[in-house]
Amino acid sequence: MKILVIGSGAREHALVWRLAQEADVICAPGNPGIEAEVPCFPIAATDTASLIGLAREHRIDLVVYGPEDPLVLGGADAFREAGFAVFGPGAAGAQLEGSKAFSKEFMVSAGIPTATHESFVDAQTAKEYARIRFADGCGVVVKASGNALGKGVIVCEDIFEAEDAIHRIMIDKVFGEAGSEIVIEDRLEGREFSLFTLISDAYVSSMPVARDYKRIGTGDTGPNTGGMGSFSPDPSITPELLEEVEERIIRPTVVELHRRGIAYRGNLFTGVMLHHGRPHCLEFNVRFGDPETQSLMARISGGFAAALYAAAVGEAIPPVQYSDDAAVTVVLASAGYPGDYARGKPITLSPVDGNVKRFHAGTKLVDGQLVTSGGRVMSVTATGPTIASAREAAYRATESVQFEGMQLRSDIAELS
Ligand code: AMP
Ligand code: GLY
Repeated sequence: MKILVIGSGAREHALVWRLAQEADVICAPGNPGIEAEVPCFPIAATDTASLIGLAREHRIDLVVYGPEDPLVLGGADAFREAGFAVFGPGAAGAQLEGSKAFSKEFMVSAGIPTATHESFVDAQTAKEYARIRFADGCGVVVKASGNALGKGVIVCEDIFEAEDAIHRIMIDKVFGEAGSEIVIEDRLEGREFSLFTLISDAYVSSMPVARDYKRIGTGDTGPNTGGMGSFSPDPSITPELLEEVEERIIRPTVVELHRRGIAYRGNLFTGVMLHHGRPHCLEFNVRFGDPETQSLMARISGGFAAALYAAAVGEAIPPVQYSDDAAVTVVLASAGYPGDYARGKPITLSPVDGNVKRFHAGTKLVDGQLVTSGGRVMSVTATGPTIASAREAAYRATESVQFEGMQLRSDIAELS
């Protein structure tokens, strides 16, 4: 099987690394880490016409989308019209991530448990609503409705923070057009985890649970990021709880997609929060999560390419094999991230053990020297027989990467 993976982050590096153990893989546009594993072609993930040309030239059997932007823009639809099997939903399904207003309305109409919410296109009305929620004793979360690279969500401690968040998103447009519409929802509290479900129309197959760390600072402090670390499995999530998630969130989603006539072939990423011990859906994404994917790919021992292909062609999804090992991923970020960050800092790498993998994200080669070029620079993933051993190996391996101003959280997979 010949596979084209589209994207250029650590998630795509992890997908490529896994799939290349099972199939013949190429990538566009890729990054220096991916280039060291498979042939890469400098075509942007949103340049669908050129990507289709590349896929024709290389007689690609399966196209796998990494990021959400090209899915929201209809990239998967165009590939399907050109006759390709694609893992990734069309534009209709991608609205589950592309518009938080759409996705909340979808959850409510499907009867999926989620935080109470309202959508707004006017800042004044939004502020009045936030005031009423605080007066009722609820905390609120302000979210840009459009896509803001995982940073468009502000958890507010008081009404002043909420008013400030609304102003910055809707008036100052700190997330650009993604903030023309906002969603304000009640703040839930509890343990959070990510569930990835491969969907092939009516067939579903969930992967093991992974936990992600969204805030920049150790101890869950500071602003939200794209994700600063992950681990899998999560021993605190019992099979009974997972069954409840399948029954109350995943199945109603598949039924609602069908009711709306939306064919969905790809990954559905469900952000779950255990509010008062019961699963609530915080958000949907229509792609694999970053950095959860890095930990999950390290745990797969076979059957991944076949599962993605089956989902892409609407067939029953054969089981994916997972090792019993745990995996822990620590993200190394540039100074300043998730705000404005430094770029062009030289990176030095020293050798690592066989149970460690470094997945590149914001790196590039300048005259043969690897330098930083993004906020999240690299993911370091390690496996081990226990979470504690994988954690120790991952942190030891972070010392193999050096660049000026490197930030990392020191509490990834620290289980209390
Ligand atoms: P989202 O992109 O919607 O998943 O939001 C990013 C992060 O913000 C989540 O992973 C949560 O940690 C937090 N968050 C989002 N919605 C809520 C909510 N209703 N209550 C509490 N925290 C939330
Ligand atoms: N790790 C969260 C995300 O990919 O959005």
